[in-house]
Amino acid sequence: MHKTMNIQTYGCQMNDYESDRTYRLFHDQFGYVWNDDPMTSDFVLFNTCSIREKADQKAMSTIGSLLKAKQEKPDMVIAVGGCMAQMKGKEIQKRFPYVDIVFGTHQWTQLPTLVINAQKNKQNALEIDLASWKNYKFLPFDKTKEPYAVRENVTIQNGCNHFCTYCLVPFTRGREVSRPAKDIVQEIQILADRGVKEVNLLGQNVNAYGSDRTGEIRFAKLLEQVAAVDGIERVRFVTSHPAVFDFEMIDVIADTKELCNDIHLPIQSGSDRILDLMEREYHIATYRRLHDYMRKKIPDLSLRTDIIVGFPGETEEDFQQTLDAMQEFDFDQSYSFIYSPRPNTKAAKWTEQFLPKEVCGERLIRLQALQQEIHNTHSRNYIQKHVEVLVDGTSKKQGEGWLSGKTESHRTVNFAGSMDTMGTLQTVTITEAFPNSLRGQLAQAHVH
Ligand code: 5AD
Ligand code: SF4
Repeated sequence: MHKTMNIQTYGCQMNDYESDRTYRLFHDQFGYVWNDDPMTSDFVLFNTCSIREKADQKAMSTIGSLLKAKQEKPDMVIAVGGCMAQMKGKEIQKRFPYVDIVFGTHQWTQLPTLVINAQKNKQNALEIDLASWKNYKFLPFDKTKEPYAVRENVTIQNGCNHFCTYCLVPFTRGREVSRPAKDIVQEIQILADRGVKEVNLLGQNVNAYGSDRTGEIRFAKLLEQVAAVDGIERVRFVTSHPAVFDFEMIDVIADTKELCNDIHLPIQSGSDRILDLMEREYHIATYRRLHDYMRKKIPDLSLRTDIIVGFPGETEEDFQQTLDAMQEFDFDQSYSFIYSPRPNTKAAKWTEQFLPKEVCGERLIRLQALQQEIHNTHSRNYIQKHVEVLVDGTSKKQGEGWLSGKTESHRTVNFAGSMDTMGTLQTVTITEAFPNSLRGQLAQAHVH
């Protein structure tokens, strides 16, 4: 009988990537097979997040729900890793003494050894060393035959040097470490050979790629090399930082077919005063300069962003400037959050400036309403247009015979078609727009 494992993943795409590669590693080395049910698994791994307080609470309550399963099945190994484990390692051990392993963000490659030890010694382990961040090790290439999706994530860089005053990431993931370009390209070639068509390059600050490694290529060059990998049709990347983004990167995106006209560039606030308090290292004028150049060079650009509302001391006027920025930069989509105070961060100490919950909630609603309005206007502009869709799945909601895919601009499109087209680019004529997706028809009829 094969041993089974389950991974509960919270948070960002970096975590998704680490969970996926860790499953593949355990499958390859020890023959573990996936089990959808954590309660009956031999090995349960929690890959946690700490970006906002809610993320912490969610993981804590699921870890708590495993107590009964562990009592009934004492050989079960439970490991808790990722950002929350990095921050709250000791607290997790104390609160959940039945957890076998607590490990930090820099110990992923040690996990196989930690699990073997837990099975042998039955002793709880705590491994959360961030001090040797320069020796950060990326997870190895996949050697399994487990299938891949049409679109896959690839981590190119870990950590962040910025220390925005609200953000916990530099404390949980440590400083910036770039992965060698030759490893990135090699991994993407392996993915392409296995049928992957689109890669999403991941890092906390991808624009700074290479700056921490002597003799390494920089981000614009890496984009070119990744786009040139045989079989890769589309390349996206997250997350960018406006203070490190430059015209050279925009030129490469404009000139390279595989690089999508979809850019995610977090603005966080439309007020220079708040940007200063956040220590974001740019003002709206910098953002505008990048924005205007992107619009000039990249037709049909889809610009996406992140915004925080209710940052300590944010006035109605500051917030109004965020609404103005949303209009001016015409974001297609935004991920917006209410400010959440995080331990150790500068802004968390400005308690006297904290805003009442109701004010934050009300601002978030107004911001999201404006974003939906802009998004809907963009959606209506798609109607009757032909778009290229990379078919990546079926649409369960629509029923039998419906396929689903994404445009270069990151819009979801549903249309009727044959499963044979899975993983291919299809031209689709958009017929209807919904709040979160577009519907269309295959445009093949025009060809014959
Ligand atoms: N509170 C609210 N939102 C946050 N983010 C990061 N830290 C916090 C926080 N303390 C948001 C930022 C970032 C995104 C990933 O999460 O907008 O870009
Ligand atoms: Fe956090 Fe700022 Fe770094 Fe982004 S750039 S990970 S928001 S500290």
